[in-house]
Amino acid sequence: MALVNMKKLLYDAEIGNYSVGSFSVANMEMVIGAIKAAEELKSPIIIQIAEVRLNHSPLHLIGPLMIEAAKKATVPVAVHFDHGLTLEKIKEALEIGFTSVMIDGSKLSLDENINLTNKAKELANMYNASIEAEIGIVGGSEDGSENIKMIYTDPLEAKKFFEETNVDALAVAIGNAHGVYKYSPKLNIDILKEIRDKVKAPLVLHGGTGITEDDFRACTQNGIRKINVATATFNSVAKKISGIYKYVENNEYFDIHQAEIQGAYENVKKHIKIFGSKNKA
Ligand code: 13P
Repeated sequence: MALVNMKKLLYDAEIGNYSVGSFSVANMEMVIGAIKAAEELKSPIIIQIAEVRLNHSPLHLIGPLMIEAAKKATVPVAVHFDHGLTLEKIKEALEIGFTSVMIDGSKLSLDENINLTNKAKELANMYNASIEAEIGIVGGSEDGSENIKMIYTDPLEAKKFFEETNVDALAVAIGNAHGVYKYSPKLNIDILKEIRDKVKAPLVLHGGTGITEDDFRACTQNGIRKINVATATFNSVAKKISGIYKYVENNEYFDIHQAEIQGAYENVKKHIKIFGSKNKA
């Protein structure tokens, strides 16, 4: 049984100075592909789904699937509820067995964010699950429905936030954004260094799609212990499927199924190698 608490994975990453990839999944094929990549590279992994994606993948169906896949994996897998917006859905995820939840109060005032995070943390504690929160605003939006302007995390606010919430993981905004970047992102590693200096929590980088290998490595060197990747996996899966349409006239459904697994597998594998978590399981 390899379903683990996210806190433990991030603690090990801190000791070993690497980052753990947190990969978004939307169906069984992506779960299979992601875990296959982690098993092959002997890497710990986090699989996640965000609250805004539940209209495509209902939590009561995808949740148990993610948990069962984690339990059967030969590497440690944390199952994470990404960008939780409501305490109700967070509770539902915890009931299903998610070992980690995020409450996203980043658009609220600092005090309101602290207050909401503490409520979510209390819930997570009841289920022995980890809690992630966000401070500053990561640009774009999780499902591309909004173009939210990025606001850098203020290191002093991050310090106060952490002192008053003691979360297990803290997501920061340092020039990163969700979705495909219109221009190459410029991460502000100086801000990251300042935050790291003031906050002893494992830090999280959202918006992993489109970030350069050098920037990923600089993040890992400066305290980022969890890196979220979603769009790159969805794109990799879509590309594999469209590749099939190019060469087969009458598609076999199971070719598509296999292409989805392969698309997720290849993208997850590529990122695990960059994040340095290979052979850390
Ligand atoms: P991307 O879609 O940019 O990879 O961001 C993923 C993410 O941060 C999920 O929380």
